[in-house]
Parts: sequence; C-alpha cells; structure tokens
Amino acid sequence: MQPTHPPETALIAFVGGGNMAACLIGGLLAAGHPRTRLAVAETAPERAQWLAREFGVRVVPRAAELAAEADALVLAVKPQQMTAALQGWRPKAGALVLSIAAGVTLAWLRRRLGDQAQFVRSMPNTPALLRAGISGLYAPPEVTPAARAQAEHILRTAGDCVWLDREAQLDAVTALSGSGPAYFFLLTEVLREAGARLGLPGATAARLALCTFTGAARMAETGQDVAELRAQVTSPGGTTEAALRVLEDRGLRRLFDEALHAACARSRELGAALERETP
Ligand SMILES: NC(=O)c1ccc[n+]([C@@H]2O[C@H](COP(=O)([O-])OP(=O)(O)OC[C@H]3O[C@@H](n4cnc5c(N)ncnc54)[C@H](OP(=O)(O)O)[C@@H]3O)[C@@H](O)[C@H]2O)c1
Repeated sequence: MQPTHPPETALIAFVGGGNMAACLIGGLLAAGHPRTRLAVAETAPERAQWLAREFGVRVVPRAAELAAEADALVLAVKPQQMTAALQGWRPKAGALVLSIAAGVTLAWLRRRLGDQAQFVRSMPNTPALLRAGISGLYAPPEVTPAARAQAEHILRTAGDCVWLDREAQLDAVTALSGSGPAYFFLLTEVLREAGARLGLPGATAARLALCTFTGAARMAETGQDVAELRAQVTSPGGTTEAALRVLEDRGLRRLFDEALHAACARSRELGAALERETP
C-alpha cells in the first residue's frame, strides 16, 4: 500500500515533541517541508507552547487527534512513555509509523497499533541535534519503497542514514553510534588529562586534544581508509609508533570489543524489559 502523499507534502505527525522531535521538525522545515504539513502531539503544556512558537506548527495534547489524518507518524517519546502515548488511536491504513525509540520492537508496536501501517524502526544519535547525526534504519521486507523513502526523508534532516538487514542489528547500532558520542567525549577527556600530567596547562591540553580529534576526523572524512591514514602518520621508530604499541599491547581493541558487547547486551535487556512490563 502506498502512503497517501509524496514525502515532500505528507502530513507528518510527531508523537512527543522533545529534543529529537524538535531537531527533526527544524530539519524538515529547513529542507522546505510545508509548515502546515507538520504537527505534534505533546503532553507537556509549556513544551507544547514552545513548539508552536518556535516552529509555527500545529500542536495538540494527544496523538489520537492527529492519527486519522497523518500520512507519517514519528514515535518520539521515551520508551517508558510509549505505552501511554500509543493508547486510544491507530494509524490510518498505509501510513508510515517511524519509531526512534530505543528498544521498542516492531512486533511490540504492531501489537498496539495493528498491522495496517508501514512500520520502520530507527536509532539516531545525539549529533542529530547539529544535523551531524547518523541513524540506523530497519524495515521488514513487506514495507513499501515509498514508506522507506518517507522514513529516510525524515531522518536525513538530522544527518546520514544507513539501512540494516535485520532488526536485531539495531542493538549493535545503539552500541556503536548511539552510545558512540560518549566514547569520543571520554577519549578527549582521557587525552587532555594525560597531556596535563605531562606538564601542559589544563586549558592548553584540552584545546590540543579536541582540535586533534576534530582535525583527524575531517581528514578521515575525505574517504581515505582510517587504517591507511594511521599507517601514514606512524613513522617506524617514531613517537606515534611508541604510543600505539602501548595501546595495542595493553589490549585497546579487546577493551572496545567488550565495551560494545556490554552496550549491545544492555540494549537487548532494555527491549526485553519493556516486553515483560507491557507484553
Ligand atoms: N536524544 C537522543 O540523542 C536520542 C538518540 C537516539 C534515540 N532517541 C530516542 O528518541 C526518543 C525521544 O528522545 P528525546 O531525547 O527527544 O526525549 P524527550 O526530550 O524526553 O522527548 C519526549 C517528549 O514527549 C513528551 N511526551 C511524553 N508522553 C507523551 C504522550 N503520551 N504524548 C505526547 N507526548 C508525550 C514528553 O513530555 P514530558 O517531558 O512531559 O514527559 C517530552 O516532551 C526516545 O525514545 C529516545 O530513546 C534519542
């Protein structure tokens, strides 16, 4: 079944108007999506007023008021708010239901919203707030190309998108790019502390650490493989080689393997907990 409107003019309704929804609404407006074709269901009155003022879009207290009209519904409440947010409404037949909530499975959503809609699940990350995010997306095989394009049209406003083959891979995406910004912040913290211990003033070490990572990231963005870039800056017998040997010998790769496994397992547990609480 085809969505009733092409992506550019579809009525997109957000269920939950928090940080992520605001980021996507801002992105859609900037991309030229008509203001009149965006709406939000937001329970918190102050937040609702802010959304209406900031974006000039229609804001209502309950998703039920938008469900019958919406061509696409973006589920953007916290996982623990999802049961309440889905009560008392169903999407119209053929509408896209795009969830950005961690751990909420498509099977769980279908049990609540019926199977007349086109369900897509995704995991964005926080750089989305600067339109520099990356989202993993999964849609079951029966989801139409039009619904996939609609989901991508919405999430592209927050950054890049990658499609996955299996829903379970979203746990790995959560572990890698979902939690990933924190790994970068931690590494920057670790580097600036190590620099300060070598005798640099704290502020200088912090600036050196951050600019080094952002500069290196820009080099990596040129498309050259990061392993090649690393080899290029590692002269035999040089300073970088001395440092990398310590990191490799002390098991940095194994450490990150274990860290990502832990995040992945936690993501699975959170999904399972939601199933147990509200099957
Ligand atoms: N932030 C991120 O970087 C990020 C990354 C990946 C995925 N996500 C996912 O994106 C989702 C949204 O995250 P967020 O950071 O935008 O959360 P958030 O700021 O807490 O936004 C959720 C909003 O929905 C409102 N709400 C709660 N129940 C509602 C209901 N029944 N109907 C309508 N609105 C309702 C909340 O109001 P109250 O404040 O009154 O509860 C809040 O304003 C989460 O599931 C999260 O897992 C977020």
